[in-house]
Amino acid sequence: MEVVIAPGPELGRIAADAIEALLRARPASVIGLATGSSPLAVYDELARRHAEDGLSFAQAKAFMLDEYVGLPADHPERYRNVIEKEIASRVDFAPGAVQGPDGLAADVIAACADYERAITDAGGVDLQILGIGTDGHVAFNEPGSSLASRTRIKTLTRQTREDNARFFGDDISQVPEHCLTQGLATIMSARHLVLLATGRGKAEAVHQLVEGPVSAMWPATVLQHHPHVTVLVDDAAASRLQLADYYRETYAAKPDWQHL
Ligand code: GLP
Repeated sequence: MEVVIAPGPELGRIAADAIEALLRARPASVIGLATGSSPLAVYDELARRHAEDGLSFAQAKAFMLDEYVGLPADHPERYRNVIEKEIASRVDFAPGAVQGPDGLAADVIAACADYERAITDAGGVDLQILGIGTDGHVAFNEPGSSLASRTRIKTLTRQTREDNARFFGDDISQVPEHCLTQGLATIMSARHLVLLATGRGKAEAVHQLVEGPVSAMWPATVLQHHPHVTVLVDDAAASRLQLADYYRETYAAKPDWQHL
């Protein structure tokens, strides 16, 4: 696990560099997209590079991590619409190239199985962008999630619904109780995981993710079993890391030829 501690705006550029390198090397790559505020700097940077540097997503595919169950198709907080607004509409993905779990499916179990199959049929995810919840969730894998889980329906914790109420007019009653989410094993199948976290509110979750014991109580800790993880954090999110100085020294001494 590589931990990079850098100022917030730089984190977006570092993640965008990794995605750009992937797309330039293999334009038909598969990218995993995340919602939440953490990836927004990455999406802004990718949109800028598309507009100014000709970075193209025309042959790429993308898969979203998760989706609320039951939000109307035109609801602005439906993750499909958030991803459309924040990144898909700002670059040149082909029609249908961005997929997400179907939170409006009549048969949720079939929809989850279909989604797993679609990811596999696309050859798997090359680079997955991730955020982390204050309770250590990734995607919507709440504490207690099976470390071997696949895409399925989950019930959101009160903590997550409180955290996300800001997107619903600060009214927790408007935040759905259920979601469809890629499982932890689904996420672990991606070839490179790039997790972004900023702010003091994430400090404990980041500490557990990097330095805590692997446990379903902090679902993100399963990433310690992945061979290629990059954790991008600002000073505040890094403030509880025991080995912060070592991570800083390691990144400062990183050879130029060694990319993320
Ligand atoms: C939501 C999303 C997660 C995201 C998390 C943190 O619950 N389902 O994918 O990582 O929130 O969001 P933020 O980046 O806004 O703190």
